[in-house]
Amino acid sequence: MQTQLDQIVGEALGQFASLDDAAQLEQAKARFLGKSGAITELLKGLRELGPDEKRAAGASINRAKERIEQGLHDRREAIAQARLDARLHEEALDVTLPGRRRGGGSIHPVMRSWQRIESIFRSIGFEVADGPEIETDWYNFTALNNPANHPARSMQDTFYVDAIDSQGLPLLLRTHTSPMQVRHARTHTPPIKVIAPGRTYRVDSDATHSPMFHQVEGLWIDEQVSFADLKGVYTEFLQRFFETDALRVRFRPSYFPFTEPSAEIDMMFDSGPLKGRWLEISGSGQVHPEVVRNFGFDPEKVIGFAFGSGIERLTMLRYGIGDLRQFFDGDLRFLRQFS
Ligand code: PHE
Repeated sequence: MQTQLDQIVGEALGQFASLDDAAQLEQAKARFLGKSGAITELLKGLRELGPDEKRAAGASINRAKERIEQGLHDRREAIAQARLDARLHEEALDVTLPGRRRGGGSIHPVMRSWQRIESIFRSIGFEVADGPEIETDWYNFTALNNPANHPARSMQDTFYVDAIDSQGLPLLLRTHTSPMQVRHARTHTPPIKVIAPGRTYRVDSDATHSPMFHQVEGLWIDEQVSFADLKGVYTEFLQRFFETDALRVRFRPSYFPFTEPSAEIDMMFDSGPLKGRWLEISGSGQVHPEVVRNFGFDPEKVIGFAFGSGIERLTMLRYGIGDLRQFFDGDLRFLRQFS
């Protein structure tokens, strides 16, 4: 009897050991402990034995059964552990691998110029102001002494917005930063010394024009601010912006409705690839008395200058860029050169 039991136990443990699949293991269990399993059959046979034999044999069979159950339990644990190990291995993270870096962004060249312009003008006593890009007809044109039939007002130049202001006139995307002269002056009192950089819009697109572009407006109003001050301030700005004294500045007579006299500011480098060519960079002039009145001031008491410069233009000259559209193409090969 005992030999037979040892044999069954040995067979069971041998089978369990050879399996590494949980379902197959349960099937193997049935062969020994199931309804018609080897051990169960032996237990059934106890019926035929006398009381003493029955007790001895029963105890032996139960011990064998326990050994098989123990073996089954151990094998189950081992299979579960092996599965866990395999999964841990499969899903292992190598924490020593260097991480994927997020590409570091950089400041756009036009924004770089914007920042430089602000810091240079701040250092010579100018405030920095900011205002709306959607303007009323009055601030963009009328207050700046633009005659009603001035071509700048025409549908060809100006982006109009499908909404009207309190005067019943269509709103528009500001065509220049000059409305900021009026907005700032009407909410401050002289001395006024301010720049207003920002986005401006015109229906225009070629190598030197983009429908959206940037300007910086300058305004200095006090009791005696003259054209000579404009020359001094603007020349100082250009020398600091281009980091060289080797440049010339020329004030060429021109016309703007909101300044009188008016001038285009041209500059020329004494060296470098652009050497010897006059380059137009800004409009400027003494603020027109009518505009000073629209500021809410008496043109007999205060006077001063204004200028409006293209920030893309300044940036192109600083970095030697030939086509303004490159600023807005979003081509990283171009932009990375400035990071
Ligand atoms: N607003 C003018 C333009 O956009 C520039 C300018 C500004 C001229 C201030 C004179 C004074 O062309």
